[in-house]
Amino acid sequence: MYDPQQLVRMDLDHILHPMHNQSHNANGPIVFSKGRGAVLTDVNGKEYIDAFAGLWNVNVGHGREELAEAAAEQMRELGFASGYAGSSNVPGILLADRLAKIAPGDLNATYFTTGGAESNETAFKVARFYWKMNGRPDKVKIIGRQKGYHGLTAAAMSATGIRSFWRNFDPLQAGFHHIPIHYCFRCPYHMSYPQCNVLCADALEHQILAEDPETIAAFVAEPVAGTGGVLVPPPEYFPRIRETCDKYNVLFIADEVITGFGRTGTMFGLEQWGVVPDMMSFAKGVTSGYQPLGGVMLSEKLFRTFQELPADVTFSHGYTYSQHPVCCAVALRNLDIIEQEGLVGRAAAMGSRLMAGLKQLESLSLVGEVRGIGLMAGVELAGGKAGAPCLAGVSAKVLEYTESHGLIHRIRDDSIMLAPPLTITEEQIDSVVNILGEAISAAAK
Ligand SMILES: Cc1ncc(COP(=O)(O)O)c(C=O)c1O
Repeated sequence: MYDPQQLVRMDLDHILHPMHNQSHNANGPIVFSKGRGAVLTDVNGKEYIDAFAGLWNVNVGHGREELAEAAAEQMRELGFASGYAGSSNVPGILLADRLAKIAPGDLNATYFTTGGAESNETAFKVARFYWKMNGRPDKVKIIGRQKGYHGLTAAAMSATGIRSFWRNFDPLQAGFHHIPIHYCFRCPYHMSYPQCNVLCADALEHQILAEDPETIAAFVAEPVAGTGGVLVPPPEYFPRIRETCDKYNVLFIADEVITGFGRTGTMFGLEQWGVVPDMMSFAKGVTSGYQPLGGVMLSEKLFRTFQELPADVTFSHGYTYSQHPVCCAVALRNLDIIEQEGLVGRAAAMGSRLMAGLKQLESLSLVGEVRGIGLMAGVELAGGKAGAPCLAGVSAKVLEYTESHGLIHRIRDDSIMLAPPLTITEEQIDSVVNILGEAISAAAK
């Protein structure tokens, strides 16, 4: 057995954590040791409701024996075989076939990766490669959005539109641009919906024209911006984006890393608006986080270019763990669970309960806006209803309260973000709302 204090000491001495800040971490991290359903337990035996499903990813909940079995079975059978040219494996093939059946439109081919950033890196490279193969070598630029998040490897970070992720790592890679996003609570155009006529969607056309359409390879967007504060687009937004991309021959990459596999109440987020992208990045929920797996799905039109490559051209892009058989086996079992337990519909139903509860918090003085879709919700703190920025330190107080009262969630730029496992119970949802309400009230004092 381990001594909890000693574990924390060893962690502080030997781990450089992602998103690390020593001054916020002086007492060391919470060291989790067990998870069941929507509940995590730390090494001291304290329980927490995991209202963030790990990192937006543990869709089927913690502690699923079936997934442990799937991994063990596959490891016994074949622990690794590469997906590089001329080599494949059974779970990868079955998973690609299964994904083609559940993905929207004609997204029928998958390139496998091990996470979200790698998926987006791949999507950008596929876009550039596609245009070069089709005689338009100058189409190389990628347009993302302010407040968009696409991961933190070099190109994914450059597509990410949140400045704090660039700081101390700049310069960004060349050829990445960002347009304003549908952040209606603090509209970048100082307008209100619907009178704004969704100007933020027109921003894409303006940017394409300003840069020259012949230089733009792709536009990338999350169906619902997660890390940017859970920003849900107006209904007209994505249909108009699709039209603009078609008009200027710009590929539309949907980053479904969070929104895929049921999170919003449909299997994929963009299905909410009936729009089909040219490429779709996914990760997280495909294995519910039990194994690192991601990928990019390509439309028939794009895939054809790769099927018909000239003999002297290779798509020289690869990761050792692309199509990892154990990850793919776990994904297959995870998709069984999502289907058999009706978790997509459950996300919609439980999301309504969560939203109804959170909406009541809008009466609190510090709550500016509550927004969300399915089991993805944001509570934006603000200094008064006019939406003045929140006072410094309020978010930290909220976090301190919720943590000490056994609730795990995240806060970024005054937006509290919630994304519990799709299996969360009604009672647990009510507890999340209650603890959060107490925390915000306490912070206001
Ligand atoms: C929308 C989106 N895209 C990409 C990523 C990056 O995924 P990863 O951390 O697996 O690289 C994330 C991570 O949260 C994300 O939310």
